[in-house]
Amino acid sequence: MRARCARIIDGMRIFPATPEFTGLNTPIGDEYELERLTVEGRIPAEIQGTFFRAIPDPAFQPYMEDGGAVISGDGMVSALRFARGEVSFAIRYVETDRHKAELAAGRALFGKYRNPYTDKPEARGIDRTVANTTPVWHAGRLLMTKEDGRPYRVDPRSLATLGRYDFGGRLKSATVTAHVRIDPATHELFFFGYEAAGLASTKVAYCLADRHGNLTREQWFDAPYCAMMHDFAITEHYALFPIYPTTCDLARLEAGGDHWVHELGRDSFVGVMPRYGAVSEMRWFRGPKGVSCYHMMNAFEDSAGRIHLDQCLSNVNAFPFIQRASGLNIPPGENGARLARWTIELRGGSDAVTETVIGPPGDLPMIPAASQGRPYSHGWMLSMNPQMQGPPVLGGPVGAMFNTLLRLDFTGKPPQGLALPAGHAISEPVHVPCAEGAHEGWLLTIVDEQTGPSDFVHALWILQAGDVAAGPIARVHIPHRLRPQVHGWWVSAAELDAAAAKRGGTRSPGVDRQFSTAARLRVARNTPYRGTPSSAVGGHPDECRHGTRYAGNARPWSGPSHRA
Ligand SMILES: [Fe+2]
Repeated sequence: MRARCARIIDGMRIFPATPEFTGLNTPIGDEYELERLTVEGRIPAEIQGTFFRAIPDPAFQPYMEDGGAVISGDGMVSALRFARGEVSFAIRYVETDRHKAELAAGRALFGKYRNPYTDKPEARGIDRTVANTTPVWHAGRLLMTKEDGRPYRVDPRSLATLGRYDFGGRLKSATVTAHVRIDPATHELFFFGYEAAGLASTKVAYCLADRHGNLTREQWFDAPYCAMMHDFAITEHYALFPIYPTTCDLARLEAGGDHWVHELGRDSFVGVMPRYGAVSEMRWFRGPKGVSCYHMMNAFEDSAGRIHLDQCLSNVNAFPFIQRASGLNIPPGENGARLARWTIELRGGSDAVTETVIGPPGDLPMIPAASQGRPYSHGWMLSMNPQMQGPPVLGGPVGAMFNTLLRLDFTGKPPQGLALPAGHAISEPVHVPCAEGAHEGWLLTIVDEQTGPSDFVHALWILQAGDVAAGPIARVHIPHRLRPQVHGWWVSAAELDAAAAKRGGTRSPGVDRQFSTAARLRVARNTPYRGTPSSAVGGHPDECRHGTRYAGNARPWSGPSHRA
């Protein structure tokens, strides 16, 4: 194995000793490449392509306390390339306007998560997004997305940033979601942007790009209130816009407060409209008060004209920093988390959804791309093992990492689970389909193992998607510290080659020499952080530092239940 470090931000960086910056969340700040990684086991020949990952990693220590710091770190794009049984790794910063401005200044210029009123004067007018949430692949383009701004386009081979992307100047929305939906039949890209008209705006842009990536539609509508709209869903004929009461208020921002608070007494909604229709056709259906969801597993129509929306739901926003800003302290074991199916009767007169619990607590759900928006038989998601011995690995925005991978079957077969040993954490996998119809393909996921108070080793695990309980069939060792990813995306070698050919490039050369070597860059010595003292470590009682609450979180799930 050969390693090459393309860039190191190696000035004096002193981050606060808080959960946002310690343990697995410790900032790394390196751009590097690793070739011919050590593989334990055999990589199936069909796994040829790249696993792109989005990782927040702040280049500079903050100058003020910010509970949302974990999701506000500079976006890095990472690529795990699979070619002929070999694997390489590379990671680079997304060169956003914000990142470039801070590099030039040699220090942080931007304050709290999504609050420009907390920025340094030098940051005024500079795009604040950090493009750190999902690498989206569509029509031969790789876009690094974050819901607070427009995406940045990245070269899929060199990982060089090509600039902010606005669909050839056609996009009007100030924002684009990190959770797009691609129809498996038409290959159209469905997406939206909330706070489309700016901070605290109720305007939502609903957009459609054709299979070639041309933006063909953009319509705006008003949400019932300005809400965090992290994800949405499509069916074969409809677009669904869930609204949960994690809300924004401009006066709070102007006063230097947090972007989000969660309001337990406020209704949730789902807006439903024909996906090729007009926003004036939107019908709003009412859900339970106070609920929260970050990710939907899928949505589909049935023969009776109903729509089903499957989502990782809880009774309160799960992010501790949002709870703190809301005056709440509801631990994970008491938040009512479940995989919930909301059924919407389009032909009836009721505006209420009906809820059925179809799975246990968890998040980061996945389905085969071919099942998008269609009736489906199974999916995967991450969860916590209720029998886990010992604490979870601390990290990520919630404060504790998942340690269990589930395969959930919706045809009546029992769920499968892979519970990792104590001290292990699992990140959101990507699904690699198999050409053989009966074979469910594979899941690729990064597993972190804690080997000391601040020590971790990392590996990519390859699992049979239809038999996750059997454990990995191969492991790829990554001999460098990794920070937790947010989301990932699998792109086959055939798609990458087709996109390269369209650009006039050449076929993929394999795992070697795919990444350009950027100039080594040194950042000026920074001033020490003067905010939260190191004694603040462990100061957040709702972050489950000892794991006891998570043991209760995964309450036994005994199959579908129903509640209206
Ligand atoms: Fe997400």
